[in-house]
Amino acid sequence: MQDRRPASAEPAVPIDPWDAPELTGWRRLPMHAVVRPDAPRVPLDGRWRFQLLPTPRTPLAGRWAETDVPGCWTVQDFDDLHGVRDLPHYTNVTMPFPDLPPSPPAGRNPTGVYEREADVPADWAGRRVVLHVGAAESVLIAHVNGTAVGVGKDSRLASEFDVTHALRPGERNTVRLTVVKWSDATFLEDQDQWWHGGITRSVHLYATDPLHLADVGITAVPGGTLDVAVRVRGGEGVLPAGWSVSGLLCTPDGILRLPADEAFARANVASERVSDFLGEARIRAVVPGVRPWTAETPRLYDLTVRLHRADGSVADESRHRVGFRSVEISGADLLVNGVRVYFRGVNRHDFHPLTGRVVDAEEMRADLCLLKRHGFNAVRTAHYPPDPALLSLADELGLYVVDEADIETHDHAHELADDPRYLGAFTDRVARMVLRDRNHPSVVVWSLGNESDYGANHDAAAGWLRRTDPTRPVQYEGAIKDAWEQAQSASDIICPMYASIEEITAGPHSKPLILCEYSHAMGNSNGSLADYWRAIESTPGLQGGFVWEFRDHGILQRLTGERAGRPAGPDAPADAYADGVTAPGYRWAYGGDFGDTPHDGAFCADGLVLPDRTPKPAMAEHREIAAPLRLELTPDRREARITNRQHFAGLGWLSARWHIGDSGTAPARLPDLAPGESAVVPLPTSLLPHGDSHLTLRVTTAEDLPWAPRGTLVCAPQVVLAEDHRDLLTRAGAVLAADGAGAVELDDAGLLRHPLLTAPPVLTLWRAPTDNDEWGGIADRWRAWGLHALERTLVSVGREGASMVVRSVYATDGAGTVGHEQVLTPLANGGLLVDETAVLPDALTDLPRVGTVFETVAGLDTLEWFGRGPGETYPDRCAGATAGLHRADVDALFTPYLRPQESGGRHDVRRFTLTGAAAAPGIAVHLDLPRQVSVTRHRAADLTAAAHHDELVPRATCVVHLDAAHRGVGTASCGPDTLPAYRVGPGTHRWSWTLQPL
Ligand code: GAL
Ligand code: MG
Repeated sequence: MQDRRPASAEPAVPIDPWDAPELTGWRRLPMHAVVRPDAPRVPLDGRWRFQLLPTPRTPLAGRWAETDVPGCWTVQDFDDLHGVRDLPHYTNVTMPFPDLPPSPPAGRNPTGVYEREADVPADWAGRRVVLHVGAAESVLIAHVNGTAVGVGKDSRLASEFDVTHALRPGERNTVRLTVVKWSDATFLEDQDQWWHGGITRSVHLYATDPLHLADVGITAVPGGTLDVAVRVRGGEGVLPAGWSVSGLLCTPDGILRLPADEAFARANVASERVSDFLGEARIRAVVPGVRPWTAETPRLYDLTVRLHRADGSVADESRHRVGFRSVEISGADLLVNGVRVYFRGVNRHDFHPLTGRVVDAEEMRADLCLLKRHGFNAVRTAHYPPDPALLSLADELGLYVVDEADIETHDHAHELADDPRYLGAFTDRVARMVLRDRNHPSVVVWSLGNESDYGANHDAAAGWLRRTDPTRPVQYEGAIKDAWEQAQSASDIICPMYASIEEITAGPHSKPLILCEYSHAMGNSNGSLADYWRAIESTPGLQGGFVWEFRDHGILQRLTGERAGRPAGPDAPADAYADGVTAPGYRWAYGGDFGDTPHDGAFCADGLVLPDRTPKPAMAEHREIAAPLRLELTPDRREARITNRQHFAGLGWLSARWHIGDSGTAPARLPDLAPGESAVVPLPTSLLPHGDSHLTLRVTTAEDLPWAPRGTLVCAPQVVLAEDHRDLLTRAGAVLAADGAGAVELDDAGLLRHPLLTAPPVLTLWRAPTDNDEWGGIADRWRAWGLHALERTLVSVGREGASMVVRSVYATDGAGTVGHEQVLTPLANGGLLVDETAVLPDALTDLPRVGTVFETVAGLDTLEWFGRGPGETYPDRCAGATAGLHRADVDALFTPYLRPQESGGRHDVRRFTLTGAAAAPGIAVHLDLPRQVSVTRHRAADLTAAAHHDELVPRATCVVHLDAAHRGVGTASCGPDTLPAYRVGPGTHRWSWTLQPL
């Protein structure tokens, strides 16, 4: 095929594509949803020649380095010929450079030039050849054999260019891709994440017949109606006469042949709606007996759409997996297939600790399987369209997706929302997303982007979208931000971020309320997730939300001597990390660790999983909250009631066992229940006399599922059959020593001397601030009061009967004095009873904790406790743990949050033992009430002082905290503070415990 474009040495208009907001692309093919797995293809992933230039104007050097595509040059190791040293840079809101829109920095603007040869088969002659670049940030300029073939922007969607005219089939061709990092478009891509550079998704060439499918749009609804709109184009423009389309749909009953809708074709001709250049066809059918798609029942039907030449031969073919489902909004309810569903969602970025923004399909599958295993049924693709493979996986595994356009202008939000120079970019980004993704049943809501204020550019994009896809609602947080109920055209959903329970329940609302972000998972967080869900499930109009966010964005970094080094990169050894912890010589880097400035520190480490996808404790919390069934005792407490809490599925995919106490277990038969139904089932009488009084139903997958093997834990609801009201000494099996017998040994300061303790029990009001405590400003108050360095003064030591009574005071910084009394009474078996009272002045309005801390001798490695477990729990995050007897290595109790902070707590603990090797002595502790306890290798001061987990040096001893009261973790790093019910206030706190040697 000939290039009919005139060749000219000078461009007609001198444009720098990186400084032209009106230019969203040049000679880029329209986005489409045609999928051609079988089209002839030349893969271009792998090694490319590479030069990283300091600016797009810098001349190329005479020699080349090499690097891999796809890849982020910010984490790759390559020969940095021009000394650019462009490393990852993390900012939240702030742009990484001071220049104002629309111009990027005129000086430093890292630009990657990629070049390689492509051997194109001779039999591609006469065919139409397309260059596909999966994603490049932020401006892509493509050349083939020295001819400029196109320009693309929009860093998270593919650019395709027709390169037929520039390519020589049967020969070796040169493809050059120039990627300019900063541009006018960067101002639209100011998401809260690391800045990288490079080609981040796959690159290839493919060939089609000149007569080709230009787009396929599928609508399929539960009643079985299937509607396929097909767009056809010819390589030279004019379409050959006689072409036609057809469809093949695989159903359980065989293959259905779907003819083109002749009436549609005739009407198009009659009304002169379509020209010779514009091929439009439609396939319409009603498929009998369709089984609809939902996230719980992700049933897909294979559809092949074919384009035929006049002689009937197949010119082109597109493959789809169709889900029959509908989405509609009715009043304040969003309905999927007519049913009001809950969105148990999470925000997910494309992230990998080694490769940056390059994520392959297996990684995506692992993300989604992990989410499904923890009860999530929805993903918001924060804040850009994902790799298309993610949507195919969501179709297959069953997840509702809010697909979000790549628009976030955070630092210049208002300016750009109304800037006409960016009008094209706004609509282009939304349109390209919709045209690519509209055939995925998993996509149920479109999002216009994130944190870009609200302006005319949004309404323009929403208008295009509503006309093009009337089958899905549109959401945009910016449009509802200031007034949830106010009329506007850009959001059908009230989708606020970080609204409090009080705010969301203060309805009624005129639209469905689904939080686009809530429960900020930074560090030790996600307090009150269960409270949110209690509110959601009991308030009309509330339908769930999306936790912020899935993964901590810690980049694996080599530590080199004194200085932190480069990203470990894609070639890091497999043992460089495990279970969320980096090996010696590495750490998880966050903002500032690569010398990046300005930066937002650890704010990028705000996920439910650690950088290597190790779940943080909040995942277990979510799993239980999302349980597909509910277990309750009947009012007479003689039987149990089981309710199916799902929207579409029965309980047949689950199996269950009763568990009680340490070892009692019996099979359970789950009743056959439709969604919403409940039934009464007998309690396992054989178990009832057994052990303690907490009865747990352990529910697991009954068969292998695409996202979980058989036997995977789904939930473990628990009922309490009877409370244990025995007093402390009875439960401890202890009696007071006869008067005078057994001595309590104190030192000069009135502190206990004990052979098994290396640090005596003292009062503490301090915890290593969590990220929520820090970002919420709460820790600053605690520091101002001096809670981290309280000074103790002994007031008196006295004897009352067999007890030693030690009174002391702790001076705060300007908030008064804390009075503390410790009454130590010997027990007959050599143990101790400790009764403590702390009186806190009113000025200490809000405390991290009130409790005792002591340290044990070395060698105690195993904790066995009766309380909530097995995972880490706090007062406002303990729904995911069952009460009972648990056992763990002391080292495994601690969660390695990226930035060290309070960690490792267990809630509702009534007793525990700490033991070591068989012959060594251990200790047993009983508590008067279920209390917050932690046993770790770190003092609160150790944790407070460290900035990264790898800086911590575990102590040989155990640091044991017994808390009379412990503040909930809340979510104040972004969003509401810990609810008042979980805060710790002044006044008198009393607690008692026993310490017995084993
Ligand atoms: C939101 C924003 C997210 C992220 C989060 C805080 O405001 O949409 O991108 O910045 O806050 O982690
Ligand atoms: Mg932002």
